[in-house]
Amino acid sequence: MNAPADLAQVIASQPDAVHGYKAFTLGSFSFRRDEYFAHIQWTTRDGRTLSHTMDAANYLRALMRDVAWGFFYGWVNFDHVVGTVNHYKTVDFFAGSYNDTMKSAGVDLLENFPSERIGATFAAMLDDWTNEGFDPFAAPQETGSAYGRKRGHNRPAITRARELATRCVGLKGDLALRTDERGAPVNRAFADVPQDQPELHPEPGFENEVHAFNLFAFLSRSQVTWNPSFTSVVKYSFMCPTTEEHILPIVHGNDRVEWFFQMCDEIHWDCAHKETGKPLARVIMKAGDMAAMPAYCRHQGYSPKRSMLLVWENGSPTLVHEIQSGEAPQVPVSF
Ligand code: PHB
Ligand code: FE
Repeated sequence: MNAPADLAQVIASQPDAVHGYKAFTLGSFSFRRDEYFAHIQWTTRDGRTLSHTMDAANYLRALMRDVAWGFFYGWVNFDHVVGTVNHYKTVDFFAGSYNDTMKSAGVDLLENFPSERIGATFAAMLDDWTNEGFDPFAAPQETGSAYGRKRGHNRPAITRARELATRCVGLKGDLALRTDERGAPVNRAFADVPQDQPELHPEPGFENEVHAFNLFAFLSRSQVTWNPSFTSVVKYSFMCPTTEEHILPIVHGNDRVEWFFQMCDEIHWDCAHKETGKPLARVIMKAGDMAAMPAYCRHQGYSPKRSMLLVWENGSPTLVHEIQSGEAPQVPVSF
């Protein structure tokens, strides 16, 4: 038996005779879609059959993030019922486990999978369920419809690869293509963002060591929404700017403190307790505001107009355990 292939095993049905989509099985969970909805079904802890329905476009936007981010940090809630928890070698898929009402009714279920298996299943589902013309990373006004019977595919959009810089973007030898140099257009919402580049005056001999670029110009040409990219990595300090429009397609539950710097326009955040979903705070962030999301919260952002957000992550692989053991705090500062 080939162990790695087995870990990545995907269980899928033949395409449905009417609407053309495959159904998928992951442990005790089954997933199917029709013209408008994704349906998830499971057997509850107390032995009953239960199902959950999500709008197909919202489901695919959430699935796209979970696949592209390799399950992210901590919790990726697709909505108030289903989602994943990253344990960094394995991943939980759950239904109702972080919903106080469902949990106390005993109708929740959580199962743990090797990351390869759930990753391969989700990637296959995303591929089969995403129709031609629908881009789950695009703002709703910038993409076609997710609905209807199966029509083609949108593999170029769902397999966008991150461009990896080998050194500071723009320096000689860096292999990453700059978005502006590739000719990507400035987004309609950022028509007023200056496109000039910083002046550079390196001392002779240091021309290949010193560089700077206009991050706002770079972001103004982003094709995607709610997809943080790494622009600087200093030890475990990751600066991840992103362009946001409409709703963050997932509700992120932290396993560490996370910082937000609102670089322009505004985002409204709903914050809740990550275990129960009980509302904790509304945070209205305007240009220049900073906020820290504590390790015990979940949050979802609403960006009325395309905006620029810097997400600052602590990528330390030991931090989750330090927080769990009480060695590291759940909050950025204690007053
Ligand atoms: C977050 O969950 O903190 C998050 C995710 C994606 C974004 C912004 C923030 O684009
Ligand atoms: Fe977050």
